[in-house]
Amino acid sequence: MYKTISVTQNLELLGKYRYVEIQMMELMGSWAYTIVEPEVKIGFGRQMYQDAVHADMLGKRLPELKGRSEHFHYIAPSDEFVKLLEKIWQANDSLRRMVALYRVLKPALVAAYEYHLEHAELPADEPTAYILRNILAEENDHSEWGETIINTLAISPDLSRLAAQWQQELENDLWAAGGIRGESKTAGAISFKKTHPYSKRPTRDSRWKIIENDAEFTEKNWSFDNDDGKRHLLHDLLNSEFITVERMGRIIADFPEIPWQMKIDMAHQAWDEARHAEIVQRRLEELGGHVGMFRTSCFGWEQDVNRPDPLERLALSNMTFESESCKHLRDWIAKAKKAGDTRSVQLLEFLLADEVNHVLYGTHWVDELTKNDPERRKRVLAYPEKVLNEHHPVGVKFEETTYERA
Ligand SMILES: [Fe+2]
Ligand SMILES: [Fe+2]
Repeated sequence: MYKTISVTQNLELLGKYRYVEIQMMELMGSWAYTIVEPEVKIGFGRQMYQDAVHADMLGKRLPELKGRSEHFHYIAPSDEFVKLLEKIWQANDSLRRMVALYRVLKPALVAAYEYHLEHAELPADEPTAYILRNILAEENDHSEWGETIINTLAISPDLSRLAAQWQQELENDLWAAGGIRGESKTAGAISFKKTHPYSKRPTRDSRWKIIENDAEFTEKNWSFDNDDGKRHLLHDLLNSEFITVERMGRIIADFPEIPWQMKIDMAHQAWDEARHAEIVQRRLEELGGHVGMFRTSCFGWEQDVNRPDPLERLALSNMTFESESCKHLRDWIAKAKKAGDTRSVQLLEFLLADEVNHVLYGTHWVDELTKNDPERRKRVLAYPEKVLNEHHPVGVKFEETTYERA
């Protein structure tokens, strides 16, 4: 189709790549809380951020090519492509979701990037080539990771056959849609919203013992100064880390219209929490604990993800729960230091550094997006108190200790 790619052709293609990167991020965000496999949730947390960075890099090249208009930043390849995305989004099992993302969408994107690189006007368009080479390498890593997960899911000949059939069906659809470039197709007539039903709980694998009734969960006096206390606290924290990957995913999927920088912040937080889940689980196991050793509450989930205003979600969870969590982390660090538990201190200090940013994301975006809307600000800031007054208080009681940075 192209000899070498012109400035005008670049503008359209980069806008289409950016659209696909953002859609993949929204698919992962939409699915994360209904996924059973913890390693998939963690992988999604990481890749939501990496796909956000890809979209960001593509977006930064557009104005350099005189594509300052918003229109160039987000171009659906074709109406058929949008329909294909909706079909993929509706897949409700991990195997079909993984096949769609890692055997169909990402490889198609990689092929489009490779084609683009082969046809780039060099050195005139070296800046585009530089960006695409970087994204391409990471997308290949994602597909490789996806393939290892698919192999753990397609564990019978029947499931392998189902995966292959689904892949074939989607590849046919993608071909008919004109591929990532939407060749000889039109777009603009069709869009779809990734809506979610009311959610009581996020999905957990069978090891977890989730308390169904919030009222059964009462405040505890666990302390980080003994191993039993550490196991209780880390076990609870592990579930909270997963919840936060999931609720960030929900903001990304539920509110495609939020400012781009806010979306990057939410994706960054999803990645942070995915790392936290890995770190916390490892430390829990080092201390002789394991997932499912205690009962766990998902308090706050239902009050967060069902809110129609993303700022109410941030006011409740980032500004209130995560701010509270910073106090706890400081207390744990002080206790671990006193007891000479240097391993915990090292890890908790990284966690605390991230959590402080999460509180800031909350305060910044509530402040920024309500600065001309005092009514909304009032409602948003009143929401956490409303939740805490109406619901049974849960958490861990502790005496706040002073914390000194090493
Ligand atoms: Fe965290
Ligand atoms: Fe956090």
